[in-house]
Amino acid sequence: MFETLTSRPDDPIMAIMELCKADANPKKIDLGPGVYKDATGSTTILKAVKLAEELWNREELTKTYVGTVGNQDFCRLMLDLVLGAQHPAITEGRIGAAQSTGGSGALRLGAELLKASLPDATVWASTPTWANHIPLITEAGLKMDSYPYYNRETLGVDFDDMITHLGTQAKRGDIVLLHGCCHNPTGADLSHAQWDRLAIFLAEKGLNPFIDLAYFGLGRGMADDTYGTLKVIEHCPEVLIAMSCSKNFALYRERTGLIAAVTKTPEAAKITRSQFGAIQRKIVSMPPDHGAALVVRILGDDVLREMWVNELESMRDRMRGLRTLLSEALNVQGGEAISAAIKDQNGMFSTLPLTKEQAQKLRTEHAVYLLDSGRINIAGANASNIPRLAESILAVL
Ligand SMILES: Cc1ncc(COP(=O)(O)O)c(C=O)c1O
Repeated sequence: MFETLTSRPDDPIMAIMELCKADANPKKIDLGPGVYKDATGSTTILKAVKLAEELWNREELTKTYVGTVGNQDFCRLMLDLVLGAQHPAITEGRIGAAQSTGGSGALRLGAELLKASLPDATVWASTPTWANHIPLITEAGLKMDSYPYYNRETLGVDFDDMITHLGTQAKRGDIVLLHGCCHNPTGADLSHAQWDRLAIFLAEKGLNPFIDLAYFGLGRGMADDTYGTLKVIEHCPEVLIAMSCSKNFALYRERTGLIAAVTKTPEAAKITRSQFGAIQRKIVSMPPDHGAALVVRILGDDVLREMWVNELESMRDRMRGLRTLLSEALNVQGGEAISAAIKDQNGMFSTLPLTKEQAQKLRTEHAVYLLDSGRINIAGANASNIPRLAESILAVL
């Protein structure tokens, strides 16, 4: 039965994780995987999550199926959190949402919905984008193409090129995949003024926004991290939003996320929700409950919610603090451009302007583990190894 199969190559991130694990150097710095780490290098369970879990263990009465659209209280609370409970799309019932198996599941549900409604549309993604966007979307049967985004020389966003490219290459009805905040892998986000322009541009050109909001709360704060999403909804009548609780609630393995379609009418919202349910049914039947039940417990309880907000803030502050330290350490001859970019960028990731050979040299000669693309996860560093990290980067430039 399996004779025709051959091994698939290791995921490059997993391969680098293995190399790092095998390195006995006590001074190694692991900037590879996309998970938050505290100052001791651990990815711990949030206190708010632990407490919610204790309460939930006592309250939970059944393990029966949650249904194909998952926990709808979870969807409502998450949408209230991100858009604000008084947002017109919420009060007017113009959002169809389903709980998903993490942000990846949300992206897949969104892609499957688009395949059903706009089978000939192309999904445009930033250059570069999170590598898994491509299989998640193309395996649903949609075509993908790319628009210019990150400039590896200026280390900023090529916004004018992005708009010009989409304006000339994308056709009405095509989909534009956007990172709501904390762009993965570059950390380079659009400014408020650029989101303002982009939202109007998308509406005028009849392009459909699909926003991946996997890192909200971890950039510059909730208001800033959701600015772009809110601006796009203000201008575009229909928007898809994929959310994840993997990073901001540190619920990674609980696979907790949601897909939401902002629609023109409440009737259309109901249709999209039923579509999400039907799609989910044929892929995984229904999402797992535990993570979503914990988020409901946290967001629905003033004390737990405040505890989570504080923990989220401390993750965010730690990463901003590390960015400042690394930026200062790199602010020497030859490192000025990277120094400025690191400080300006958001979230866990930055993409350093390194060749594959330079990235390999960092691993083999300096025990600094990053991806071949130059992507680093700043949360993998700590205050005591930042000077060594900066020296190593400068040494390979
Ligand atoms: C940009 C982006 N979107 C979505 C996800 C999906 O996250 P998960 O499926 O773990 O919730 C990730 C995870 O790394 C990501 O980086």
